[in-house]
Parts: sequence; structure tokens; C-alpha cells
Amino acid sequence: MTESKIADLLSKMNLEEKIGQLNQYFSFGNFDAEIIRKGKAGSVINAAGALTGTGESKSSDAETCNNIQKLALDTPHGIPQLFGRDVIHGYRTIFPIPLAQSASFNPELAEQAASIAALEATATGIKWTFAPMLDIARDARWGRIAEGNGEDPFLGAQMAAAVIKGFQGDDYSAPDKLVACAKHYVGYGTAEGGRDYDAGEVSEPTLRDIYLPPFEAAVKSGVGTLMSAFLDLNGIPASGNRRLLTDVLRGEWGFDGFVVSDWDSVVELIQHGVAEDRAEAAAIALHAGVDMEMVSGSYIETLAASLQSGKVTQEDIDEAVRRILRIKLRAGLFDKPFTDPDRATRDLLRPNSRTLARQFARETMVLLKNEDDLLPLDSNFKRIAVVGPLIHARSELFGSWSPDGRAADVTPLGDALKQIAPAGVELVFADHADKATHIAQSTDAIVLVVGEYPYRSGENSNVSDLSLPPGQAELVETVAGLGKPVVLVVIAGRPLAITKQAAQVQSVLYAWQPGIEGGAALGEILFGLEAPSARLPVTFPRATGQVPIYYNQKNSGRPIRADGPFKSRYVDIPNAPLYPFGYGLTYTTFEYANLKLSSETMRGKLEISADVTNSGKRAGNELVQLYVRDLVGSLTRPVRELKGFERVVLKPGETRRVSFTLTEEALAFTRADGTKGIEPGKFNIWIAPNSQSGLQGDFKL
Ligand code: GLC
Repeated sequence: MTESKIADLLSKMNLEEKIGQLNQYFSFGNFDAEIIRKGKAGSVINAAGALTGTGESKSSDAETCNNIQKLALDTPHGIPQLFGRDVIHGYRTIFPIPLAQSASFNPELAEQAASIAALEATATGIKWTFAPMLDIARDARWGRIAEGNGEDPFLGAQMAAAVIKGFQGDDYSAPDKLVACAKHYVGYGTAEGGRDYDAGEVSEPTLRDIYLPPFEAAVKSGVGTLMSAFLDLNGIPASGNRRLLTDVLRGEWGFDGFVVSDWDSVVELIQHGVAEDRAEAAAIALHAGVDMEMVSGSYIETLAASLQSGKVTQEDIDEAVRRILRIKLRAGLFDKPFTDPDRATRDLLRPNSRTLARQFARETMVLLKNEDDLLPLDSNFKRIAVVGPLIHARSELFGSWSPDGRAADVTPLGDALKQIAPAGVELVFADHADKATHIAQSTDAIVLVVGEYPYRSGENSNVSDLSLPPGQAELVETVAGLGKPVVLVVIAGRPLAITKQAAQVQSVLYAWQPGIEGGAALGEILFGLEAPSARLPVTFPRATGQVPIYYNQKNSGRPIRADGPFKSRYVDIPNAPLYPFGYGLTYTTFEYANLKLSSETMRGKLEISADVTNSGKRAGNELVQLYVRDLVGSLTRPVRELKGFERVVLKPGETRRVSFTLTEEALAFTRADGTKGIEPGKFNIWIAPNSQSGLQGDFKL
């Protein structure tokens, strides 16, 4: 049905109408209805402005989209418009940033949040979101680490599948489902120096085994579209790379949706120095596999002439049109092109959407330190000082890419804490040091809230130094010197090198940018109504100079653990990170014991299990992690690789036997000959609470 409809449409379309479908229109000022009337656009982007989308911007609305749609349906073939927008971690109900969502290690929750985002965005006429962002990041200086799922391909692939399922459901022609867009294909996080848009170099095996897996998972999940990245990857700009955009994406993975360029990435091929002019840039990109061109207009301006001159072929153009029509048909736009204008009042900011946002915020906050079990703050703490530059935070809790979030929807952080604080507990507030010094003497504990403002991470927002923002280290120093127990709460879009500050305080709770309900969620954790359960999806460096730093590193010939003076190390700080991937505390403790393997030799698959016991006084939620190490390969292999995780909730004293099934397929990697597969040999295996400890076993493949 779809394919025959596509063939029928294509046979009736003239060249100008075909090229019109390949153009995405962004009105930089007032909307030019002629563009739509004349079929010169296949999609309208309602962008929040490319500057990281942190500012509130004019949201979409059903009426506007319906009026544009009417113009589109009046064109000769009545091909409907596809309205796109960056709905990255919520539309009006803003959820924690994606990096925080990954810390929950809870794909099911991420799916539910994406489903709510789809409900809200489609209520305003949006049908296509430029999300999820799947770029693996090993360098926290890069501002866009905030938007992805951290450093691990296994976790990244799980989150990709879940979020796409949430956005698209099983059938994205449903009125409350969106077409998703896996971005930025591929390797964007390798930008040198953490400088957004800069060039990246990565080996083919690393590209295959680290950066591509989340995108392959997205394609397997049926994602409708991908977005090609800005960067120069290994000398070939990602938006002009036919091997990746066609041979891999379509040839190997069978992707049959369409690829949209990222903003001006097609015409940026000129800056990259691989195209002389706009016509050549457009021809390279189209032939590489970029089907729709976002906003620069190079396709609509040059493809007709390029076809005449032989720069592009009719098949290049026709195939791109087929892919776009295919997604529009699957999105149900031909049958249901309009949005019910009454939906917005019903579907935006529903109470249960806020409830989910609060749960998600709670499940993303990572407890990094808790000396003397200072947290949760119990009834001994009657008067608590809440100090710092973010204690009145509202939209600061949203983080980057939250253009439809509104500060007015957020209870300021301090007020939310007040609402949650138990009866009899008094909170006193001080947003700067000398006021804090003044009130501290009369309080029993201090909650110090520091961190980043939204525009300090996200697109085009990189830092050369991972220390706290200017002035905050001094504030921590002052507050820590007041002789009161201090809980440091960090609001941030990236890991920060808080080594000194962590040593100065009793407890550290990393809240990331927790979204619309972040204040209440923080209160529930601080006062023990809920216990923290998140784990780090990304390694925390001691110092900026350690970056790039990540758990699944190679061993080198002189690893830090080896004997002798000559080894891979710094003379001024330890190699080890401040906090490792997978790490996080809660309000109880867990013991791991009795590791068992179903066999010492794997044939097809292996069962591995261990006892996990809650050895503390409170119920707890533990993320049990499964890691392997391939000891000898045709290429060097990582010292650890995450291959599974499972949550267990245990009462005090309760023991649960947790087991995993490891398959041979999970041990496949890109070998020296470039093929993907397994190699026989010895392996280590761990069931562990994080990437640096756990019970170790051995097996042979
Ligand atoms: C931006 C971003 C991309 C976003 C697009 C549309 O430059 O790189 O992630 O989806 O433009 O706003």
C-alpha cells in the first residue's frame, strides 16, 4: 500500500515538486506562505533558534500548523507538511536532561517520558522531533554531553530503543505519536578538545564498537529518520559521507527512512573544504545519502541545474523523495493531516505527567558521597540553611534544549524544598556567602546548591576547565569553614571536577538538570522520603587534564597497575577518576557474594549469578552490573565492557540471587580483519556495583 502510493505519487510529480520535498523551510522572520503554496518545502522546522534552545521561544500551536497544512493540501498532489521541532527531553513538561535520564539506568521510565513528550508536542501540531541524540561522549568539556546517554554503547543502545519506542510507539500514525530522529550520525562526540563542531579522528573498530551501536539500535527500533552530523570525521564530513550514510546505514542495516542534514551542515562542506560551492555541496550530500536539507536552501536552489549538468542523477533525487514520502505515509499525514485544536488544553502539563517528571528526577540524582550517613536529613536537623546561587532556580532546572518549558511552571527550588521538608524543620535561605555566614551559626546543617546555568552546556557551549563556575569554589570553601555539616548539591549539564569541594563537605548529591519537578524531587531525596538509586552514566574526572577519561579504556603496555616505575600515569595526580562509571550510593549498603558460572567454558551462552544482600538498615535499590573483559584479541580490548544491568530492591537484611545470561553474540567485536565476530580465548567477568569493583570470575570461549 505505502510503496504503491509512493510510486503513484512519484510518477505524477514534476522535477520542481520532487526537489521541493527535499527542502526543509525555517522562516527566519515572517512566514512566507508562497513557499508552501508552490510546494517548495517538504517540511517546516519550528526551531527554537540554534543557540542551544535554552531561551523560551514561540511554541508551536495547532491552529498555525493546521493553516499551513491547508495550503499544503491545496498543492497539485496534496502532499502534507511534516512539522519538526527539538523535543529533546520533554515539550512543556520538561524531564531531566538525557544525560541525567541515563543515570537512572531505567529505559522503561525514559520510554514513558518520551511518550508524554510525544503527547504534548503532537497536541500543538508537531509531528517530528529531532531526538533522541545518541552521541557517545568521552569528553565533558563538550557541551553536548548533556544531551546524550554518556560514554557507554550498551547503555546508549538501551536508552535509544526505549526513547524511540516512547516517541513513536508501535505505529507513529497515531495522533499522539511523533516521528523520531536519531542524531547526530555519527561520531559527533569525538570533536577534538571538546570543541563543538570541531574535527574528530577515530579508528574504524572504535567507530563500529563504540559510536555506531546506539544508531544501529535506533534503526533496529524502527526510527523514522536520522540527522547527519556537522563534524569532519576522519577527513570526511559526516554530512557528505556516503560510506556511512548509504553503505552502512542502508546497505548493512537496511534503514528505509530518511536522513535530514543538521542545520547548515550541507553548505558547511564548503568550509570543510570538500566542496567548491553550494551546488557541489548539495550534490555531494544528496549522493552521500542526505535526503532532506535543513534550512540552508542549497537543495532547492541548485539541484535542478545540477541534474541538467549531471552533478546528480534523477535516481538520487527520486530515491530521496521516496524515503520522505514513505515516512509521511507511515506518519499518517495523508489520512490525518490536521491536529485537534482542543487537545492542547487537555494534554499539556497533565498532573500525572508532572508526577512522572518528579519520579524521573528522583531516579536521576546520584549520591556520590555521604559521610557519617549525614543524608537523609533526619529529625535531629531542626533548622537548615539552604545556600547558594541556585536556591531560587526555576528554568535553570530545565537545562539546554527546553524551548517549550516555562519558568512559571516551576516551583522555585527553595520553595519546593520548604513544601517537602518535614513538619518542625525550618529552612532559612541565603543566596550568597556573607548572608550564609551570618545565618549558619544558628542552623544544624547547610544544604549548599551550586552548579551551571543552562547555557553553559548544550550546543555551542563548551568549557576548557571542568571546575565549578567562577566564584563557586570560594563559596564552598567559605561554607565548609562554618563548622556545620554540609550537603553539596550540584546542578549541572556535565560532569564537573569537584575533587576539592567533595573533600570539603560531608555529602555530595549530583542533581544534573532535573527538570520541572526537580525541586520537589531534591527535597524527597534530602529528607529521605525516597532514597537515591541513580548511577553514573559517565566517568567523573579529578581534573580537566585527565580528559578524555572513560571506564572502557584499553590496558596499554604499561598499565597503572603494573609493577615498576614506568607506566601510564601522571606525576601530579592519580590516574583513577574521581568517581567511576556505574558508581553511586544510596541510604543503605549492599554486599556481593557467591559468584557462580554455569560453566568454565562458554558454549553458546553462559549463566552467571551472585547473591546481593542489603547489609544496611533501610530498604535500598541496587543496580547490579555485568561486565566482561576479553583478555586476548586480534586487536587490543577494553579493560571492562558493560554487558548487562538489573535493578533489585531489597529490604534490610534481604538477599537476592541475581543472574545474567551472557551470549556469544554479546562478545562479538570488530576484529583486526575488519569483520565483526567472536574470538576464542579467556575472559574475566564481573557482577559488580560499578565499573571498578565487584566479584570476578573467569571463563573460556
Ligand atoms: C542544531 C542542532 C541539532 C538541532 C537542529 C535544529 O544546530 O545541532 O541538534 O536538532 O539544529 O534545531
